Amino acid sequence: MSVTVRVPAKVNVQLAVGGARDDGYHDLANVFLAVGLYDEVTVTPADALTVSCSGPDADQVPLDRTNLAARAAELLAARHGIDPSVHIHIAKDIPVAGGMAGGSADGAGALLACDALWGLGSPTSELLDICAELGSDVPFSLVGGAALGTGRGERLTVLPVGGAFHWVFAVADGGLSTPAVYREFDRLNADLDVPAPVASTVLLDALRSGDAAALAGALVNDLQPAALSLRPSLADTLTAGTEAGALAGLVSGSGPTTAFLAKDETAARGIADALLASRTCRTARVAAAPATGATVL
Ligand code: C5P
Repeated sequence: MSVTVRVPAKVNVQLAVGGARDDGYHDLANVFLAVGLYDEVTVTPADALTVSCSGPDADQVPLDRTNLAARAAELLAARHGIDPSVHIHIAKDIPVAGGMAGGSADGAGALLACDALWGLGSPTSELLDICAELGSDVPFSLVGGAALGTGRGERLTVLPVGGAFHWVFAVADGGLSTPAVYREFDRLNADLDVPAPVASTVLLDALRSGDAAALAGALVNDLQPAALSLRPSLADTLTAGTEAGALAGLVSGSGPTTAFLAKDETAARGIADALLASRTCRTARVAAAPATGATVL
């Protein structure tokens, strides 16, 4: 017997970042939007806890206990005093180390899959606690849709979304390390008084009304200067996407994936083709939002 869970990627439509806290994290106003690119996590009883991965970028995924999927199984098993011996297979479609929460998706997926496999029926609040222990973005991967994350991003308020948004994601060569991007943010802001992060009411209204043009005008990512500083070539990708007719473009989370909002699905396909032709990215993917959170198939 095995259980498979499908989990979406995310884009941050607003990522407002405060100054570094004493614990090294940053307070955020982080507006997450789940998008229709998915990993599938399958758990099967086994003699030991093992991880495998398939997909075009599978060779970049760690298969040891540092994989958030393995850690999720261990944490859930420890809470219930049971043996975490399962084989976890990740069918990976979300870009690796791309700023789209692919690792977090696998953590949330494995957690929900193990909970079902072991018949635990854990309340969502308990699963969310474990998600927050796994990483700042993991609770959102479980919930999906759209949500405002405060604290280090793990405290979620679900947000209403009034329509579909069509996105194009330009996937870059190689990944960017999230801690390295936050360190660069700190370096760039060392002499500045970084204001406390606040969610934009204009942006929340645009999400609620499903207005793509209004959302495009409100997109903001405070990590973008840091990601561009570490990867200057992303500026060319952003230019190519906006010249191709995107309503707006920004770096997704800590990057290096760049995200472009299109007026509709047809426009999104045209922007993806133009981005590929521009040779400023490795591949371009089209996806609609909002997507539902982790779901047992
Ligand atoms: O929570 P998570 O393990 O995903 O965070 C990865 C790294 O990203 C942290 O070690 C920290 O360097 C940075 N981070 C941060 N502030 C946040 C979230 C993440 O500085 N709110």
